[in-house]
Amino acid sequence: MKKYYITTPIYYVNSQPHIGHAYTTLMADILARFHRQLLGGDRVWFLTGTDEHGAKVEQAAKKNNVSPQKFCDEVSAKFQLAWDSLDISNNDFIRTTEKRHEDAVKNILNILKTKKTPLGHDIFFEKEYEGLYCVGCEAYLKEEDLENGLCPNHQTKPEAVSEKNWFFRLSDFRDIIVKKISKGELKILPEKRKNEVLGLLEGGLEDIAISRTKVEWGIKLPFDEKQTVYVWVEALMNYITALGYGSNDQKKFNNFWPADLQLLGKDILKFHAVIWPAILISLGLDLPDKLFVHGYLTIDGKKMSKTLGNTIDPMDLIDEYGLDAARYLIVSQFQFGEDGHIKAESFANKYNSDLANGIGNLTSRVLSMAEKYFDNVVPAPKDKKHEPFGMKKYWEKYLDCFKNLKIFDAVSLVNSLSKALDAFIAEKKPWELAKDEKNKTELAEAIYVSCETLRHIARMIYPIMPGAAGDIFSRLALKNELNEKLEKRMKWGGLKPGSKINKGEALFPRK
Ligand code: MSP
Repeated sequence: MKKYYITTPIYYVNSQPHIGHAYTTLMADILARFHRQLLGGDRVWFLTGTDEHGAKVEQAAKKNNVSPQKFCDEVSAKFQLAWDSLDISNNDFIRTTEKRHEDAVKNILNILKTKKTPLGHDIFFEKEYEGLYCVGCEAYLKEEDLENGLCPNHQTKPEAVSEKNWFFRLSDFRDIIVKKISKGELKILPEKRKNEVLGLLEGGLEDIAISRTKVEWGIKLPFDEKQTVYVWVEALMNYITALGYGSNDQKKFNNFWPADLQLLGKDILKFHAVIWPAILISLGLDLPDKLFVHGYLTIDGKKMSKTLGNTIDPMDLIDEYGLDAARYLIVSQFQFGEDGHIKAESFANKYNSDLANGIGNLTSRVLSMAEKYFDNVVPAPKDKKHEPFGMKKYWEKYLDCFKNLKIFDAVSLVNSLSKALDAFIAEKKPWELAKDEKNKTELAEAIYVSCETLRHIARMIYPIMPGAAGDIFSRLALKNELNEKLEKRMKWGGLKPGSKINKGEALFPRK
C-alpha cells in the first residue's frame, strides 16, 4: 500500500467537544485504523487539531473573562482529552496557536504574495470592504443568504463590517477549479456535494478578504502587521503546516502530501472545495485526492451545535455505555454522508439490540459452549477448511464498504454475519449434539466454526470498537492477532485448534 494521509477539520475552541465533532473524528479514526492493519499500513498519518484564532474565539474568551490564549489552552485540552477518552489514534494534533503553525503561515503568506493568479494578476490586493459578517461562520454572508435577516446556520444577526483589508483574487481561480473538480483531479464525495460545488462555481466567484483589522486574536499578516490573517485562510493551511510545509523540515510533507482523504461537514464545503484548492494551486502544490463531505447529527431537525445549545457530550456516552459502545453508537446511527436524527433515548435501544443482545451475547454464547463441551479448549474440526458462511464474500463486501467509505454498511454487514452465526448455532443445536458421544465430530466442527467466525467478527469490528475486538482476541488466546496484517488473517482457519480460551464477563452488559 502507498501512504495514506487523512485529516479532520480542526475544531473551533469556542465550543466544548460534542458528539458532532466526535462523529467526524471517529470516522477518521476508523479509517486510519482500517488502513494501518493493511499491508504497508505503517505509512498512515492521521491529523486532527483545534482552530484557535478569530473573532469567535476572541469573543468567547472575553465572555469567560480569561485571556484568549488561556481560553484556547483550556478548551483545546478538553478536545485532546475527549479524543484520548475515545481512543482516537491520531498521529498529530495541531493547534493553530502553536509556533510551528504561526511561523509557517507567515512564510506561506509571504510566498503567496509573490505569486500570480492563473489569469496573471497579483494574488493579493488591498480594498475597502463593507459586508455582513457572521462570527459563528467566521465568514461574510450575502443579503440573499439570510433568512429573516439572520444567518441560517446560527440564527444570529450578522454584523455590518466596514474595513480596509487585503484580498485574495479568488475570482481568477474559477475555471481551473471547475476543471480540476470535473476531471476528478479533486474528487468530492458524495456526488451531490460535487454537484453542489460545481453549481456554486457556475455563478462565478468573488474575491475574499484574507485579513481583518478589527480582530486582534490572530496571526499578524507578515506584510502588513496592523492586520491579522483571516481565520479560515490560516486554518486551512494547518493540513500542510502540520507536516512541516513552510518550515525548515519538510520531510513529513514530502512523505505524506497530498492528503488521500479530507473529511468535513457540509457546512464547510465551500472553504475546502474552493478556497483551499485555490491556495494550493497558487503554491504550486498538489490538491488532495478526495474530500468526503458528511451530514449533521441533528436533534429535533436542527444541527447539534454550541450555538443552538443542543449538544451531547461524548464523555457522558462513555460513562453510560463504556468506550467501545460509545464509539459504536456515535458512528452507526445513519449512512456516512447523510444527515441523521439523534435521540438520546434511542442509544439505549441500539446498545441493547446491537451490542448487548448482538455481538456481546454471541461472544458469551460461543465461548460458553467451548467451555462447557470442550473444557475451554478450541476443538479440532475434521475439515479445517469447511466454513458455512462464504466468508470470502463477506470480506470482499467489507473491503468494498471501506473503499467507498460506507462505514454504516460495514457495521450492518458485521451485524448480519453475527446473525448468521446465531442462526448456525440455532440450527446445529450443540446442546443436543452434546447429549450423544457419537456426535462428537459434528459438535467439534460446530464449535470450531463458531469460534473462528467470532474471530472474523472481531477482526471486522476492530476499527470501530478496538477495545472490544482486542478483548475477544484475548479470550480466544489470540494475543498477536492485531499485529498480523488483515490480508493474511481474512483467510479461514486462523484460529488454532487446541488454543485455551477464557470465557470472561459479559462484553456489553444489558442496560
Ligand atoms: N474550525 C472550522 C474548521 C476549520 S478546518 C480547516 C470549523 N470548526 S467547527 O468546530 O465548527 O466544526 C468542524 C466540524 O465538526 C464540522 O465540519 C463537522 O465535521 C463537525 N461537526 C460539528 N458539528 C456537527 C454535527 N452536529 N454533526 C456532524 N458533524 C459536526 O468549522
